[in-house]
Amino acid sequence: MSYAQTYPDHIAYLQTGYEEALAAHGFDAVVLCSGAAAMKNRFDDQAWPLSPTPAYAHWCPLPEPDTYVIVRPGKKPQLVRTVVDDYWETPPPPESDHFFSAFDVLEVKPGLAGDSLPGGKVAVITRDAGTSPPGAVNPAGLITALDLLRTKKTAYEIECLAEASIRAARGHQHVARAFQAGTPSELELHLAYLQASEQDDAAAPYKNIVALGPHTAILHYVAYQRDKVSGDTSFLIDAGAKVLGYGSDITRTHVRGNGPAARRFANLLAHVDAVQQDICRRIRPGMSYEDLHDESHRLLAVALRELGIGRASPSELVDRGITRALFPHGLGHSLGICVHDAGMKPRPPRPDNKFLRNTSVIEAGQVFTIEPGIYVIDGLLGPLQADDRRDLVDWSAIADLRQFGGIRVEDNILVEANGVRNLTREAFAAV
Ligand code: GLY
Ligand code: MN
Ligand code: MN
Repeated sequence: MSYAQTYPDHIAYLQTGYEEALAAHGFDAVVLCSGAAAMKNRFDDQAWPLSPTPAYAHWCPLPEPDTYVIVRPGKKPQLVRTVVDDYWETPPPPESDHFFSAFDVLEVKPGLAGDSLPGGKVAVITRDAGTSPPGAVNPAGLITALDLLRTKKTAYEIECLAEASIRAARGHQHVARAFQAGTPSELELHLAYLQASEQDDAAAPYKNIVALGPHTAILHYVAYQRDKVSGDTSFLIDAGAKVLGYGSDITRTHVRGNGPAARRFANLLAHVDAVQQDICRRIRPGMSYEDLHDESHRLLAVALRELGIGRASPSELVDRGITRALFPHGLGHSLGICVHDAGMKPRPPRPDNKFLRNTSVIEAGQVFTIEPGIYVIDGLLGPLQADDRRDLVDWSAIADLRQFGGIRVEDNILVEANGVRNLTREAFAAV
C-alpha cells in the first residue's frame, strides 16, 4: 500500500472524529496551528527546528512554520500556508506530496489573512498563544478529545510507524555490529546510528540515548562521551526514526566480553528479553495497561529469583519494593506523533506506579511501547541495603552488574483484535 491509498481514509476518520468533538464542545470550527519558529535564546538569532503541534501533524505532514489546518463540519479541510520570501532559510520539503489534494490549499502573506479565517465560534490549537489567530485558545475539553483520537491508529498511521521502525532497525543493526567489532565511543555510536538510519539529530523523534557501561543506568542519558571503551562492557541504545511525522521508539541492550560479570549481565539480559516477549504475548484488547505493568514486575521478580539476584519469593520481591528499585520507570506509553503521546492516561496511575504513562484500557488500534528494564541505580538501591530488606538482594551480584549499568528492551506494539503486531521485531526481521 502507498500513502496515497491509505491517506484518504485517515482524513475521513479525522473529519468524522473532529466533527463529533467540535459538536460535543460547542465549536463551529477549529484552527490547528503548525507553530511559530521558536528562538533558542533571546540573545541569539538561532531557532529550534519546528516540532509541529500534534493535532496539526495528525492531519498534515508539512513541517512548515505558520501553517494552519482549518476544520469545519461538512467542509473540505483548508490548509493555509504562509508564504515568506526568505533567502536565509527554508523549511524542509515534505517527504511525500500525497496529502495536498485532501485540502483546499490557500497561500497567504505573513499574519494569516482575515478572510481565510472561519466565522462562528472558533477554537485555536496552538503552541504559541501570544501570536496565534483569534479564537478560544486550547480549550481543555477539546484538546482531550483530540488527544484521544490520536490513540487509535488508522491504516495510514500504521504504515508510517512500520516504516519508521524499519529505518530505526537499520540503525540499530549497524551500531550493534560496530559495538561488537571494535571499541567505539558513545559519540561514534550515536553518529553511526544517525548515518545508518539516514537522519539528522534534529529530525529524530527524540534525542538518541546512547550509553556504554555504567552510563546505561542513566535512563535518559544523552551526554555522549568521546573516549573509546575497550574490554567487557555494555551498550544501551534507545533510538527511533521519523516518517511523515510518526516516530518509532526502540531500545536494545548489548554486551561484549566473556568475563564472569559480562556473562552474568548477558544472562540477565536474556531474561529481561524473555520477559519483554512474554508481556507482548499476553496483550489483548480489554486488558488494563496498568495490570500489564504490574504483571511485568511479577515476571521480572521471577527472573531475579531464578538468577539468584533476588533472594525471596517473587511476590515478596514485588511487595517489598525490590523490583521497583531495579525497574523504576513505567512499562510503556502511547506512541505516534509524539514519542510520549497524550491520550492513554485517562487517570493517574497508582502511587507505587508513579512514572507509568499509560493507564488506558487496551484497545485494538492502539500503538504503545513495551519496555521493561533492570538497572543498577545506587540512589534507589541504597535504601534497600540500609534497612531490613538488605537480605532480599544478592549484593555481590549487584556489585558485578554495576559496571554494566542497566538493561532495557523496548518494542513498538500495535494492538489487533486477537493479539498484537510487533512492529519492532517485524522490522528487525525485514532488514
Ligand atoms: N525514548 C524514551 C522512552 O523510551 O520512553
Ligand atoms: Mn519509550
Ligand atoms: Mn525509548
